[in-house]
Amino acid sequence: MDKFHIGKIEIDKPAFLLSPMEEVSDRAFRMLCKENGADITISEFAASDALIRDVEMTKKKLQFDERERPFGIQIFGNQETVMVEAAQIAASYQPDFIDINWGCPVKKIVGKGGGSGMLQNPDLLVKITAAIVKAVPLPVTVKTRLGWDDNNKIIVNLAQKLQDAGIAALSIHGRTRAQMYRGNADWTLIGAVKQNPLIHIPIFGNGDIVSAKGARQAIDNYHVDGVMIGRGSIGNPWIFAQAKSLIFHGKELPLPTIKERLNMCKHHLQLALQYKEEHYAIINMQKHYKTYFKDIDHFKEYRIKLMTASHLDEIYHLFDEIEEKFCTSKTEKDAN
Ligand SMILES: Cc1cc2nc3c(=O)[nH]c(=O)nc-3n(C[C@H](O)[C@H](O)[C@H](O)COP(=O)(O)O)c2cc1C
Repeated sequence: MDKFHIGKIEIDKPAFLLSPMEEVSDRAFRMLCKENGADITISEFAASDALIRDVEMTKKKLQFDERERPFGIQIFGNQETVMVEAAQIAASYQPDFIDINWGCPVKKIVGKGGGSGMLQNPDLLVKITAAIVKAVPLPVTVKTRLGWDDNNKIIVNLAQKLQDAGIAALSIHGRTRAQMYRGNADWTLIGAVKQNPLIHIPIFGNGDIVSAKGARQAIDNYHVDGVMIGRGSIGNPWIFAQAKSLIFHGKELPLPTIKERLNMCKHHLQLALQYKEEHYAIINMQKHYKTYFKDIDHFKEYRIKLMTASHLDEIYHLFDEIEEKFCTSKTEKDAN
């Protein structure tokens, strides 16, 4: 099997990465995706200025479990000295790599020049990246977009400059900042970066992969070293095992039954409770229920109840009711 490296870590190709997602790719969900075949996980983004101010909530985002490795901590920011110090703090937690977010499109962050805002100032983007590479004893990776807008799709050139700055891998979301999350991700420029004979670092493609077949298509068409899956994994951690089975063994895995979905959801909640206070674990799970229980006839009432339940007892009770009502052999047959 082909391999690539991030620093000294050797990883089978193609790799399947769980996208960093604020309030989604927390420890519990990363563990769950790892158990289901994700090769690499990355933290939710951590604000550099909050890290250097020692903000407890932000520092919590840096914690991870050994079983998550290879694992990267992602930081965002807009100022060289602050980001360098934040990267050093993140490195002291001993992840496998530090990932710099030059892709976030959120106005509050972009407005201050952070995230994809820095795509308007590529020289500074490269300068800060090079400073971080120099300052930390770990590999540094970057996640970014195609460019600022349709007239400024700079990624092919930028990728080369980032490689020269010493980064160990690059993840590219196939949209511009101006697109936010609209339209379809355009993978052609991701392919162009990968095909550039001057590029030798691993390239991970990202955007709109929601099925095993989609992952296979992206890898077949664009020859990336790995695919990064975000929204397609929410409430659907099976996507990693499904994609790997299809790509490595040509075998489509059966869709999980309602009982299997319920069990995964219960396991997810248990993991969330290990790492978060009850209130936050409950709120976090609400991001996943819709997909865990999608396409089940007459489920709406339960989905609403799950989304509004504020105590664990209520949720466990709902799980029992769901099991009783939807996990009979007849309902399983209808749903599949
Ligand atoms: C809820 C949510 C939170 C996100 N948070 C982050 C983040 O913290 N860092 C980051 O680099 N990208 C973040 N993203 C972007 C994703 O990592 C990914 O690039 C984007 O969703 C496109 O991939 P997808 O189509 O597979 O979802 C977030 C996306 C979503 C939907």
